[in-house]
Amino acid sequence: MAVSLRGRDFISLHDFSTEEIWQFLETARMLKLRQKAGLEDRPLVGKTLGMIFTKPSTRTRVSFEVAMVQLGGYPLFLSSQELQLRRGETIADTAQVLSRYLDGIMIRTFAHQDVLELAEAASIPVINGLTDLLHPTQVLGDLLTILEKKGRLEGLKLAYVGDGNNMAHALLHGGAKVGMHVSIASPEGYKPQPEIVAEAQADAQKTGARLEVLTDPAEAVRDADIVYTDVWASMGQEAEKESRVPIFQPYQVNSALMARAKPDAIFMHCLPARRGYDTTDEVLDGPQSVVIDEAENRLHAHKAILALLLG
Ligand code: CP
Ligand code: NVA
Repeated sequence: MAVSLRGRDFISLHDFSTEEIWQFLETARMLKLRQKAGLEDRPLVGKTLGMIFTKPSTRTRVSFEVAMVQLGGYPLFLSSQELQLRRGETIADTAQVLSRYLDGIMIRTFAHQDVLELAEAASIPVINGLTDLLHPTQVLGDLLTILEKKGRLEGLKLAYVGDGNNMAHALLHGGAKVGMHVSIASPEGYKPQPEIVAEAQADAQKTGARLEVLTDPAEAVRDADIVYTDVWASMGQEAEKESRVPIFQPYQVNSALMARAKPDAIFMHCLPARRGYDTTDEVLDGPQSVVIDEAENRLHAHKAILALLLG
């Protein structure tokens, strides 16, 4: 039986059980179907979501904002530049005050610890819209996309090629929860954090997911159903953008690498991509790419998160 997720935070996929992850996915599927059929669901009438951004965003901002509107609620965009946080007001004070006005907070920022601190002091749900450590709302949308394209999650193999960053971490968490094998290939010095791999391994043992962290991209994509990549330098790492190019060049997802995966493999990217670097145009715009459907599914996944946490 479905448990209530009302009032919970959404900070890491690791915090949820396999059943709870499926509850988000089934709700997203249902809301998407109903929207496509022209039906309205407005469980959040009178509810307000504050959205704090200290990093840029196209998909996360627009999809959360539209998700709130479609569910009958009100999204309030809060640039960190305009909040008193910029002048040194503490996260804890901000969290307590915002909890008196709002029904939920979505935050995108640098330090994961800041999101944990916000959630600790807030009495309303806090949603992680990306930190340097994790990007869980992205991966919920990605699981929905894989489910739609492949008809299942358990037993599939996802190969992630590139930086062992917030995306690699969240994919390890998500794959482990649903029994999907995740093979990561990253250069030495850019592997996922061992603590995250250990968290995911604990779940993988229960669900049968096989997780591996490799160096060779060709080995990672062998027999893969999904090939996934991300930028080589994330937000906050702009100074390393050019120096990372020669290190990550062998990790570029191009037609030659895609040819080593299963013939019916799909290509995924959280976007934005740095075209011609992490991915070639041929792959991004090619028949195996599902990146635009993937971006759309952020909206449906976010509606599920908001409806279940705030509804
Ligand atoms: N994938 C993603 O989170 O995109 P934005 O940075 O545009 O929100
Ligand atoms: N790893 C990227 C993801 C962007 C959605 C970043 O953090 O910039």
